[in-house]
Amino acid sequence: MARPLRAEIDLDALRHNYRLAASLAPGSRSMAVVKADAYGHGAVACAGALAALAPAFAVASIEEAVTLREGGIDQPILLLEGIFEAHELETVEALGLWQVIHSDWQLEALLAYEPRQPLTVWLKLDSGMHRLGFPPAAFIARWERLRQARDKTCDLHLISHFASADLDDATAFNAQHEVVEHVRQQLGAPICVANSPATLVKPQAHGAWNRPGIMLYGSNPLEGDLPAGLTLQPVMTLRSRLIAVQTLDAGQPVGYGGRWRTPRRSRIGVVAAGYGDGYDRHAMDGTPVLVDGQRCAITGRVSMDMLTVDISHVPEADVGSEVVLWGKGLAVDEVARHCDTIGYTLLTGVLPRVPRVYSRSPKSDG
Ligand SMILES: Cc1ncc(COP(=O)(O)O)c(C=O)c1O
Repeated sequence: MARPLRAEIDLDALRHNYRLAASLAPGSRSMAVVKADAYGHGAVACAGALAALAPAFAVASIEEAVTLREGGIDQPILLLEGIFEAHELETVEALGLWQVIHSDWQLEALLAYEPRQPLTVWLKLDSGMHRLGFPPAAFIARWERLRQARDKTCDLHLISHFASADLDDATAFNAQHEVVEHVRQQLGAPICVANSPATLVKPQAHGAWNRPGIMLYGSNPLEGDLPAGLTLQPVMTLRSRLIAVQTLDAGQPVGYGGRWRTPRRSRIGVVAAGYGDGYDRHAMDGTPVLVDGQRCAITGRVSMDMLTVDISHVPEADVGSEVVLWGKGLAVDEVARHCDTIGYTLLTGVLPRVPRVYSRSPKSDG
């Protein structure tokens, strides 16, 4: 029997989530963020499943864009960090990519380049996150230079990123939004600033384009709950099985370092999944797992290829029982809280040795 761990990817759920994002921002176009291999879900499969819906995709590097083009994705693809080396402009042009310009060297590289057709540029405004982009005055000067270089760029947009759109306290978001609005009004620029949290709860920031990522994969990026009536469907369900069961007396240590001891006579199930698959080793005792649909708790440290769960209260569970590590029936966000992290890291962290298995109903195309 093959090792039972797999990541089931529900492409219908992905499409549901995309449609939700698009419906929340009706006057805006929703660019699907599929960087980091579509947050661990498989970029070509996910972009393919969204191809009839999404007008554009966003990735982090030219290599990721090439993978999409080789996978048959024809839509515009935005390089969120632009080029990393000047020679990449040839590939940008050849593949019809869109580029962010966040630094002067990228601007100079474009101005020195001789494209056959002017290229689409997304100029990055640092509206307060202080990660990438030009502060407002410098942005306006760069915008003017690009606007005048008509043989280099045809289509110019303002792009910026929010550091805190997910927080209940809107102070930092409002400050950034004010900067964006000020520059937008001055230049009359089409803007793209809304990530998933802003797409979900900041309609004032939807702009000409929005660019949701994590919400497409069914994880809630907000500090609090989703607004009433909104449902995201989990796209990845990480599934495995019990490969052994131990019955132990009270007081026995389980796993590396004996971090956890049986408080009573206990049945411990051994699951084929570990940090060598991307399951977070920071998972605390008590991290939830479903065994035959029943909630159980991780007990003891996660090993490279296995982890252990207390199945004392699920007497029917045995070798071969189905285990859900997250996904349908168990939100990745809940698991993430027990690992002191966020859904993003768990999803992007699933390693290549875990097979991705894709499902969608045949009538869902289009
Ligand atoms: C520049 C940029 N835009 C959009 C996104 C998508 O953000 P989210 O996954 O929170 O929707 C990210 C995510 O890291 C990003 O870095």
